[in-house]
Amino acid sequence: MYRQSRWNEPLIFEISREGAIGHVLPALEKEIFSELKEALNEIPKEMRRKKLNLPEVSELEVIRHFTRLSQMNYGVNLGFYPLGSCTMKYNPVINEKLASLESVQNVHPLQDQRTTQGNLELLYKLEKALCEITGMHKFSFIPAAGAQGEFLGCLMMKAYHKEHGEKRRKVIVPDSAHGTNPASAEMAGFEVDVVKSDETGCVDIKELEKIATEETAGLMLTNPNTLGIFERNIEEIVQIIHDVGGLLYYDGANLNAIMGKVRPGDMGFDIAHLNVHKTFSTPHGGGGPGAGPLGVKKELQEYLPAPTVEYDPAANSYCLDYDRPKALGKIKMFHGNFSVYVKTYAYILMMGAEGLKLAAEASVLGSNYLLNKLKGLRGINVPFNTSQPRKHEFVLSLSKLAKKTGVRALDVAKRFLDYGVHAPITYFPTIIDEAFMIEPTESETKRELDNFVKIMSKIIDEAYNEPMKVRGGPYNTSVSRINEVKASHHRTLCLSWRMYKRGTRGA
Ligand SMILES: Cc1ncc(COP(=O)(O)O)c(C=O)c1O
Repeated sequence: MYRQSRWNEPLIFEISREGAIGHVLPALEKEIFSELKEALNEIPKEMRRKKLNLPEVSELEVIRHFTRLSQMNYGVNLGFYPLGSCTMKYNPVINEKLASLESVQNVHPLQDQRTTQGNLELLYKLEKALCEITGMHKFSFIPAAGAQGEFLGCLMMKAYHKEHGEKRRKVIVPDSAHGTNPASAEMAGFEVDVVKSDETGCVDIKELEKIATEETAGLMLTNPNTLGIFERNIEEIVQIIHDVGGLLYYDGANLNAIMGKVRPGDMGFDIAHLNVHKTFSTPHGGGGPGAGPLGVKKELQEYLPAPTVEYDPAANSYCLDYDRPKALGKIKMFHGNFSVYVKTYAYILMMGAEGLKLAAEASVLGSNYLLNKLKGLRGINVPFNTSQPRKHEFVLSLSKLAKKTGVRALDVAKRFLDYGVHAPITYFPTIIDEAFMIEPTESETKRELDNFVKIMSKIIDEAYNEPMKVRGGPYNTSVSRINEVKASHHRTLCLSWRMYKRGTRGA
């Protein structure tokens, strides 16, 4: 059994004492001080804050506060994190070391480009590597996450069709798609058409033929799909969409299963985002910011927003190109989360082409090993049980268990926390009743996977013998079962100390 630290830790604002000092900054040089004062005068008076309301605490209080919080946290560096659709793989420590270099941390995107040649070279070379891995022709590093890449990708579709004198209103997404796909399409002003999955868990080709029309701007697809099944009819799917003049958008969330084996560009996709924080090992979610670079084929590259990173062979130098007349407008400042790209590049270089391929193979092997061990357990069934193996992840249904015992997928997932394993994803994809989605990644050993099977089997036994116990979990974590509806409901979210003090909740 696992026991997480449990501190009755107040907010840092609650331990604030007026006058407490954590760090004494060196006095500013006179010149800089007067420059700052001048700059301050340019801010209109009514917009200037009198007080910052920062917590006042000593250095030791800060250290203790954050160390305690870290002890109540859970991450890949602590244990198995089988969160489906998230690729929570090991984040090599060397990535962090490189991302914390002076030349990464203390640069400004508006700095003279002659002083940031190394950083620009890194982005340029990373772009070449991503093109090689995906079969795309050019990338924008601007999007901050997969979802933002999707949104930009949808805007690209719009720009492309507009340029060709067409006003296409619809984007098709499969019923197994991640929620961000239809959300991005709608935000970009499209209507969403949903195409059903067939009995093998793949896009229903006959349905797609019916839905795809001259009004179709494009299709968004992840391959392997969110069931972990490779869309074997991908060439036919691409043909159907291209035949009606639409574009193919690749949601790169599942690239980990296929990198080095097959490329979205070769499958026929025109636009693709990568979740580099998943596939290329940078901490994400609670662990840090991500990045969702967007790649496109040649015919779309002029719509990529500025700046792009270019190389001038005559001058043997790198630059940011802002002079892009057809480029879409800003969706985020500058050129994205640079330090995430340093980690991405470090990972790609360390792995090499062969290493990336091996990682994909190992992720698929681990996933199928685990699936085969779990599928015989009581109360579990494997929807879309086709003869084709799963890729890097798979989805079980716990509906039988729920009917027999009242213990639902969420209860099983929460109980895992008591055994020191992060909860798998539940209730996604939504086409599966009591969905329980697992992605082990290539980072986990056979011993870890066997341990997962043991825990799952224990929890299922508990569900049959002591269902209320499973339904009440977790017991050993710093925070017990939270109210998930309240936690994600915008009216009850309290996102800052200021909101808390004002007694206001989300708008
Ligand atoms: C299939 C799929 N598509 C898109 C996304 C969105 O990616 P991000 O979380 O980087 O915005 C996710 C995230 O988990 C996903 O699983």
